[in-house]
Amino acid sequence: MCGIVGAVGINNPRDYAIEGLKMLEYRGYDSAGIGFLSDKINIFKDIGSPNHLDDILPSSFETELIIGHTRWATHGTPSKINSHPHLSCNRKIALVHNGVIDNANELRTFLLSQGYKFYSDTDTEVVVNLLEYFYLSSKDMHTSLTLLKDQLEGSYALAIINEDYPDSLFMLKKGSPLMIGKGKGFNLIASDASPMAKYTNEFIDLEDYDFGYISKKEIRIFDKNNNLVDRKPIVKDAESISHDLKGYPHYMLKEIEEIDEVVKRAISIYHEDNQYQFDSKLLKDLREADHVMFIGCGTSYHASLVGGRIFEICNNIPTTEYIASEWAFHPVIPGKKPFVILISQSGETADLIHCLKIIKEKNNVPTLLITNTPGSTLSRGVTYTVLLHAGVEVSVASTKAYAAQVALLALLSGALSKNEKMVVDLKDTIDVIDSIKNNLKQPIEQIAEEIKDHDNVFFLGRSFDYFLSLEASLKLKEISYIHSEAYPGGELKHGPIALISEGLPVIVFITDPTTASSMRSNIEEVKSRGAKVYVVATKSLSKKGDALIVDDYAHFLSGVAISSIAFYLAYFVSLKKGYNVDKPRNLAKSVTVE
Ligand code: AGP
Ligand code: GLU
Repeated sequence: MCGIVGAVGINNPRDYAIEGLKMLEYRGYDSAGIGFLSDKINIFKDIGSPNHLDDILPSSFETELIIGHTRWATHGTPSKINSHPHLSCNRKIALVHNGVIDNANELRTFLLSQGYKFYSDTDTEVVVNLLEYFYLSSKDMHTSLTLLKDQLEGSYALAIINEDYPDSLFMLKKGSPLMIGKGKGFNLIASDASPMAKYTNEFIDLEDYDFGYISKKEIRIFDKNNNLVDRKPIVKDAESISHDLKGYPHYMLKEIEEIDEVVKRAISIYHEDNQYQFDSKLLKDLREADHVMFIGCGTSYHASLVGGRIFEICNNIPTTEYIASEWAFHPVIPGKKPFVILISQSGETADLIHCLKIIKEKNNVPTLLITNTPGSTLSRGVTYTVLLHAGVEVSVASTKAYAAQVALLALLSGALSKNEKMVVDLKDTIDVIDSIKNNLKQPIEQIAEEIKDHDNVFFLGRSFDYFLSLEASLKLKEISYIHSEAYPGGELKHGPIALISEGLPVIVFITDPTTASSMRSNIEEVKSRGAKVYVVATKSLSKKGDALIVDDYAHFLSGVAISSIAFYLAYFVSLKKGYNVDKPRNLAKSVTVE
C-alpha cells in the first residue's frame, strides 16, 4: 500500500521525488525515504511523512538516478530501519517496494543459509538480498530480474538501482500498480500518474509480470514470457490528475464541495442528449440476470447497499450485497444467472482483487466495475467498467466518490428500466446539495462543537437513511477517532439501547415518508434514556426542534443529496480536535493488502 517514485535524467530529481511522494501520501505515510546514486548509493529515510523527509534531505544534490518511497507498513513496525529504500548486503543494490511478499519467510531462511544478514523486519529486504544473490552469480540484471520474478510470491511493484548500472532504473511489477512517464531526455516511474503529470502527459501502465528498465533515452519492457514488448503510452490531461488544493485548506473539504459538480457530470455523461449512455451489452447482460451481487469494502460497500436496494425497488431485481473480505471466504454467488457489480473508488483494493479472481474461476459470470480509476488493476479483469468521472480523490476519507457511486448506480438503474424520472430525481438533488453547502455548514459546525468531546456517538435511520448512517458513522470514526455506531432505528431495542446514557449524542436521519413515524418513536425511546438527539429531516417530514432541515428529494437518493451533511460533520469534528483531516492515523487511501 506504499507509494513509489523513480527518475532517470531529470533536471530536478529532489523536487520530483519529494513533491511526488507528497502526492502519493494517500497510499501511506508511516515513513518516507529516498535513494540516489552519486559515486555510491545514498539513502535518506525516516519515520513520518514526506514533509519530514524534505526537512532531513540535503537541500541540493546531483544525481541521474533516484528512487523514493512513502510507506504503509505491512511487515515490521513503522520505524527508520524498516523504511524504504532497502539496501542489499553489499550495499550496491537499493530498491523500493509496494506490495507483500507471501513467501518472504522461506526466502529469508534460504538467504540466511547463504550467509546473508538482515537488519529490518520487512519482506522487502528479502527481495533486495535475493536480487543481489542472483546478480552476484549472473552479473546481469536482466537474468537476475527473471530469476527473481520466478521466486517471488505475492504482490510487488519494485524500482531498483544497481551501482553497476548508473544509467538505468530497473522495475518489476505484479499485483501492485506501476506506471512509466515518458519524457524527453528523461524517464519517470511512479505508482500513479500524479507525480509525473508536471513533467509529461504520456504514460505507460505496466502489466503484471512486466519487467525491464528506463534510462534517459530508452524504455525497455519485457513481458511475462520474457519477450520485449512495445506498450503504447496513453495521453492523460494534467487537470484530470491534478492534486491542486484550489485554495481549500484540506482536500476533504474541497472534495465535499465538489459533490454537486460530480453529480452534474455523471448525469451529463451517462444521460447525454436525453438518452442513457451505457454499453448496450452491459444493459442486456444485467437485464438477463436473475440476481445481482454487489461487492465492495468500506464506503464502497455502503454505496453497494444503496445500489442493491435501488435495483430491488426500481428494477425488481433481487440483489445481495457483500463485504469483499467476508465473501472471499464463503464465495457463493446467488442466483442461477447472476451478474456481479464490484464497486471500488481506487480500483486497486486487494480484498476485491481476491474476490474477482475467485469470481473469474467460477463459470462465465459477467462482472461490472464501478470505479474512479481508469486502467486500474480491477478494471483490467472485469467484463465491463463504468467510470465515476469524479476527479482525483486525495483525502483518505472518501466523500465525492461515494456520492458519485450512488449517483451512478441510480443512473444505471434508470437505464435498465428506461426510467427518465430517475434523471429528474437526481437533478433535484443538486439544489439540495447546494443549499447544504450555502446554508447549513454553520449549524453542522455547531453540532460538531457539541459532540467533539464525547467518546461515543450513535447514528440512526431506517432503510436508505440507515445506509447513510453507516457511512456517516464510518466517516466520523475514521477521521475523528470517536467511537460511533450506526443502527437501524428498529434494531436499537434489541440490544444497543443498553448503551444509551445521559447526554449521549444520537444523530437521526428522517427522509423517508414510510419510516418517518417509526423513527420518531425511536427518538422518544432514546430521549427518555437521556440521549441528546440531533434530527436531520426533509422539510415535509420535519418537526419543531429538528437540528437540520433540507428540501425534499426522492428519498432513495439520500446518499447523493445529503451525504455532505455526514461528511461536513466528520470534517468539522476532526478539525476541532486538531487531527490531520486528510491523512487519518493507521489508514491509507488505496488498501492494496488483504
Ligand atoms: C473511505 O472513507 C475509506 N477510507 C475506505 O472505507 C474505502 O472506502 C475502502 O477502503 C474501499 O476503497 P475502494 O473504494 O478504493 O475500493
Ligand atoms: N511490505 C512492504 C513493507 O511493509 C511494503 C508495504 C506495502 O506496499 O504496503 O514495507
